[in-house]
Order: sequence, then C-alpha cells, then structure tokens
Amino acid sequence: MAYDIDKEDLITLYPLETLQKFASDFLLALGASEEETAILVDGLMTASLWWHPGQGQGLEKFFRFHMQVTNGGIVPNANMTWVKEGPSYALLDAAKGFGYVSGHRAMAKAVEKAKVTGIAMVGVRHSNHFGIAGYHALHAAKKGLIGWSFTNAKAEMAPWGSAQVVLGTNPWGIAIPRKDTHAIVLDMALTMSGKGMMRWLMNEGRPMPESWALTPDGQTTTDPAAAMLGPLLPIGEYKGYGLSLITDVLAGVMTGSLFGMSVFQDDTNHDVGHVMMAINPTAFMDQADYDTRLEQLVAEVKGAPAIDPKRPVILPGEVEFQRMGEREANGVPLSRETVEKLRALSAEVNVNCPL
Ligand SMILES: NC(=O)c1ccc[n+]([C@@H]2O[C@H](COP(=O)([O-])OP(=O)(O)OC[C@H]3O[C@@H](n4cnc5c(N)ncnc54)[C@H](O)[C@@H]3O)[C@@H](O)[C@H]2O)c1
Repeated sequence: MAYDIDKEDLITLYPLETLQKFASDFLLALGASEEETAILVDGLMTASLWWHPGQGQGLEKFFRFHMQVTNGGIVPNANMTWVKEGPSYALLDAAKGFGYVSGHRAMAKAVEKAKVTGIAMVGVRHSNHFGIAGYHALHAAKKGLIGWSFTNAKAEMAPWGSAQVVLGTNPWGIAIPRKDTHAIVLDMALTMSGKGMMRWLMNEGRPMPESWALTPDGQTTTDPAAAMLGPLLPIGEYKGYGLSLITDVLAGVMTGSLFGMSVFQDDTNHDVGHVMMAINPTAFMDQADYDTRLEQLVAEVKGAPAIDPKRPVILPGEVEFQRMGEREANGVPLSRETVEKLRALSAEVNVNCPL
C-alpha cells in the first residue's frame, strides 16, 4: 500500500547528511565495524528516503538494534562463515550478525557467481532483520544483474481461513536494471500493510482499509485498534498466503534458520533466514537486445492510458525514486515520537543526538 504523509504536524524533516552522520556515530557506538556501519547506514538511509515513517524501516530500527545488541541477539562484527558453496549457490551462517550486513554479503556473493554461471542463489541462516528487501535486490541491479531477495519474518499472517498467526510478512525485493535510468524495483511485504502503518492511522484517528487486518477472532474491521492483536491479511487473499508459505520454505526451512511461528520470537535469538538471487540477462541474450526489448515493454506499460489522468501508470519503484529525490532536496521525515525516543536512547548510549 502506498501512502501520503497526511498530517505534517506528526513529522519533522531533517537533512540527509544529519541523519547519515547520526546513524554512523550511533552504530559505531553499538560496536559495529566500519564496514558494517557503512552497509547499515546505506540501507537505513535508502529506507528513510523511500518509505513512510509509519512503515518503521528507517532510524526506528535503532531501538531494536540497541535492545538486541545489549541482550546478545545481535552480535556486532559477528564471525560470519560460508558453510556451503558450489558454482551457483552458497550458504552463509550469519552468526547472529546484523541482517543488513549478512544480506549485503550474500548478494555480493550471488552477483559474483551469477557473472560466471548466469544465475546464483545464496541462502543466509542465523541472521537478523535484513531491513528493506529492495535494498538488497538493488545491489545486484547496480551491477547490471536482476536481483531478487526475500526473507522470513515474525509470524503476523494467518494461513488463509484461520486467524492464528503462523507466517511472516516475508517481503520480496526484485530489481530489474535498466539502461541509463533507475531500475524497476518491486519491493513489497506479502501482507497488505503492517502494524506500523496501522498504528500511524490509529494515532491520526483514521480508519484503515478493511483489506489490511482482522480482529483476533477473525472478523473484518476498519478500526486499526481492533485489529492490532489480530492477523495481517495477505496480498491477493489465499495467493499471498501461498507466496508467504513458499518464501518461508526457501528462506527458513531450506537455509536451516527458524521458520513459521518460531522465527523472531526470542529477542536474544531471532534466527531469521534470507535468500539472495542474482540473474545475469546476458546469459540469455546480448545486453543491447535485452535493453531494447526491456524498454519496449516499459513503453507499452507506461503507454497504457490512465483511468484517472491525474494518476498515470507508474513502474514499481518509481514512486520511491521520486520521493528519494524530493527528500534529498527537502529533508527526510521522522515522526516526532521517534525523535523523542532517539534523543533518550542517544543519551543512554552516550552519542551526540543532532535531532
Ligand atoms: N525485513 C522485513 O522483515 C520486512 C517486513 C515487511 C516489509 N519490509 C519492507 O518494508 C518496506 C515497505 O513494504 P510495503 O509492502 O509496505 O511497500 P508498499 O506497499 O508501500 O509498496 C510495495 C511496492 O508497490 C509499488 N507501488 C506502489 N504504488 C504503485 C503503483 N501505483 N503502481 C505500481 N507500483 C506501485 C512500490 O513501488 C513498491 O515496489 C519494503 O522495503 C519491504 O521490503 C521488510
């Protein structure tokens, strides 16, 4: 679901550089290495430039990082090891390290292998929340390859026909490189929305679409508060449930991480699993042919007449890249509530808070 920031009084805008410097200081203070910090800051800034503060993918992650570094759930500078490796596949044991970092290393490995074999798939086990799926997919697209990343996550979705949460929002990021312009980036949870956006609407006193979540006893509702303890609804009804199940088979079962109702339950051991895939279009045809054919498809899609002329057809990722440009120029939004909490947390870890 795409959103506008409706109530300007709930947010403050900060220059990107201010958030970058703050994020870097904070992560180094938590014990992240310079290399880890660079990856984490890049991922968190991408998330901050792309998403609504209610989606909670930006500096909101600091609270969880701090809690888990303190209780041993995240190990900064973890000793990640390659436990399996073949020409077109590999498996990384993240050893409870930062998920952004293990995801980044896994996609780098997938890209390296796919440049030789045409396609590669790299699993990650014993990891943590990897951030935004599109960030990892875009890593491959920046190298000219199609990137596909997914992860399992905390159980928040019920199998279709039940109200008992068993499966995660299990997001997918797929990035298709284009010549001389932004990649097509489909970056989506497999649920219609998340608890963060429901909380945002609740704070604004607004209803949510009935398609987002159910009450704990399985009733439909437009009241976000009534569904806060209920299951999130999958995209495409039973089809999204099916995709989430299959994602957990690949990212959880097959990597050797936790899956289903177990993953993400114990804050000292989330044991999340990810999968990174890289596909080299030049394994199938010349780069020039691929580029020409892709642009033909894009032209057909974008050429479809809009039902509402004020809302032209856009590509996946287009709205995020547009937002990115606007925020780089005008500032990055943080909710006032997050700012208050970041000030208190910074004092606790003895880091200067510029907010
Ligand atoms: N790591 C985790 O456990 C986890 C879990 C859930 C979500 N996430 C991340 O949260 C972020 C937000 O996910 P979301 O599902 O709420 O995103 P979203 O629903 O806001 O957007 C999903 C996708 O739809 C596209 N889109 C939006 N409007 C469009 C339109 N009119 N035409 C064409 N395409 C359009 C967007 O470009 C995007 O690719 C993502 O980065 C996701 O990876 C992470």
